[in-house]
Amino acid sequence: MSSTWGDRVKISVFGESHGKAIGAVLDGLPAGEPLDFDEIALQMSRRAPGRDRSGTPRKESDLPQILSGVLNGTTTGAPLCAVIENTNTRSGDYENLRSVPRPGHADYPAALRYRGFQDVRGGGHFSGRLTAPLVFAGAVCRQILARRGVLIGAHVASVGAEKDIPFDPVCIPDEQLRRLSCVCFPVNSPEAESRIRAAIERARLTQNSVGGVVECAVTGVPAGLGGPLFGGMESAFSAVLFGIPACKGVEFGAGFGAAELTGAENNDAYYYDGGAVRTKTNRAGGILGGITTGMPIVFRAAFKPTPSIGLEQDSVDLNAKTNTRLRVQGRHDPCVVPRAVPVVEAAAALVLINAMNETNGGAEK
Ligand SMILES: Cc1cc2nc3c(=O)[nH]c(=O)nc-3n(C[C@H](O)[C@H](O)[C@H](O)COP(=O)(O)O)c2cc1C
Repeated sequence: MSSTWGDRVKISVFGESHGKAIGAVLDGLPAGEPLDFDEIALQMSRRAPGRDRSGTPRKESDLPQILSGVLNGTTTGAPLCAVIENTNTRSGDYENLRSVPRPGHADYPAALRYRGFQDVRGGGHFSGRLTAPLVFAGAVCRQILARRGVLIGAHVASVGAEKDIPFDPVCIPDEQLRRLSCVCFPVNSPEAESRIRAAIERARLTQNSVGGVVECAVTGVPAGLGGPLFGGMESAFSAVLFGIPACKGVEFGAGFGAAELTGAENNDAYYYDGGAVRTKTNRAGGILGGITTGMPIVFRAAFKPTPSIGLEQDSVDLNAKTNTRLRVQGRHDPCVVPRAVPVVEAAAALVLINAMNETNGGAEK
């Protein structure tokens, strides 16, 4: 059941890139939550293709049609189902991929797993387009979380060798997260934006692609959510983040960098801030023992370069059983990172609403 996730608030994502429609069902949401549809449309447009000059020129309106679970603008508590029509498809671009798989994409392993019956058009169920329903679901969940004081924001931390300024993991102002979470190309430093855009443009001009890192922060998270071993918050975040196509790495707090530190360097010292226990640093990224500490949750998700590139590459012809060359057609993103930012935020929203319902600590209040 790899297209379904969650236990208290469950999401199922359905559809194929060039089928009739894609969509999501969200089950377990609290009833009586008013939804701001302009805010949902804003989040959808941040991810949609053709909105920012760094992405693919392919345009899709991505307007969700809500079939159930909302009445008079408010959640009813019944499963919320939203459908997004696929309107801009050029399936001919994908015809040859049935026998000649794209290096770096899911074409070859999917053909084995589904014995050739999978929909290859536009990447089918493996397409980045399937992140649209995820962003819709996240846009619903983050409104419910915001009413409980939980704010989420992310930025393009790096593309290739070009880096933005990271979050201060101890103190992340609400204003910073609000600003990031309403723009198409979110960065902490305006100076970094031009360098990062230039790196993406270089990839586009050379018919190549480039990868990068999204850094995400969540503030206002109550301490004590999650659990040890396999039920930990890191496991939950990772499960959803690795569900985002092209995500190849996830790290929390100091992450892989912690492996180079000593205990004295890595431990976050406690202190009382009025009545609240806080830590002076936050190399744990807000999670210890799989349980939230009450400090901001900070994590990074690494995205590989877009697999579909215009440069000719080596592949195989599975029908003729010969080696061959492939030049990928179609309208592809030279870098998925800017469009992945709202998807990462949506993933965080799903994880938190699920965790907060679990302990009755917030979402069911
Ligand atoms: C927002 C977004 C847009 C994407 N756009 C493209 C694209 O235009 N072309 C492409 O080949 N891959 C694109 N991808 C990535 C592929 O869907 C992904 O690499 C592929 O399904 C294989 O999965 P994996 O990389 O997770 O192993 C996109 C991913 C995301 C998150």
